[in-house]
Amino acid sequence: MERSRIVAANWKMNVLPSEAMSLAGQVAQALPIKNVEVIICPPFTHLFSLMSLQSESLKIGAQNCNENPFGAHTGDISAQMLKDLGCSYVIIGHSERRARQSTENARISAKIRAALQTGLKPIYCCGEGLPIREKEAHIEFVKDQLETDLSTLQTGHIEEIVIAYEPVWAIGTGKNASPEQAQEMHASIRKWLSDRFGSVLGTQTRILYGGSVKAVNALALAKQNDIDGFLVGGASLNVDEFIKIVHSVSESAND
Ligand code: 13P
Repeated sequence: MERSRIVAANWKMNVLPSEAMSLAGQVAQALPIKNVEVIICPPFTHLFSLMSLQSESLKIGAQNCNENPFGAHTGDISAQMLKDLGCSYVIIGHSERRARQSTENARISAKIRAALQTGLKPIYCCGEGLPIREKEAHIEFVKDQLETDLSTLQTGHIEEIVIAYEPVWAIGTGKNASPEQAQEMHASIRKWLSDRFGSVLGTQTRILYGGSVKAVNALALAKQNDIDGFLVGGASLNVDEFIKIVHSVSESAND
């Protein structure tokens, strides 16, 4: 079965609210691009205005959510609030949050559950840091992350999850994983999903690669069997570059 492709833009803490509509609007104008669903994940402050651009080919997502439905969590936003606003996706477990929020790792599973329960599709991030990669312990490390964050989820819910493998050493460094390195990890993630939840889920789940994806390296990565698209940081802030990446993914799907 052919898996549909995704290219998701993680704007991180970039772009002013007054600039967001112009940037996202230019992306929207270049769509649809065959076989690819594009997702824009701007900062929370831009979500409301960008919702009007949402369509079959362009979805809007958030970069994080709180695991509780409501309550005394100053500064936080719940999955329900995002869903009510019209969001389709939410990034959960990005390494920039795992590294800077001491409680983040322990909350990821609950955040994914909260997102799934409200009908938001989680884009769940995993990936190893450089010391782990240098010790060649990356496959085991990511399996442990999957085990901790996903193994308690129920079939019947988890089908909506999208996984993003983002090696920390490749994020914002200009040094992407090679197609072979990424494929090795994606195949291992897919095998873990099959072993844990059955081959249907293993085969159907979209697994994205993230980490210094650019127009020049996108096609070689996208051609790998188990790479179903990208989670793009820096390059998503440049419309031409981003759209070239989307075209590469489309081209790889047509091969
Ligand atoms: P860069 O594409 O800037 O390396 O960021 C990747 C990322 O963290 C996307 O979530």
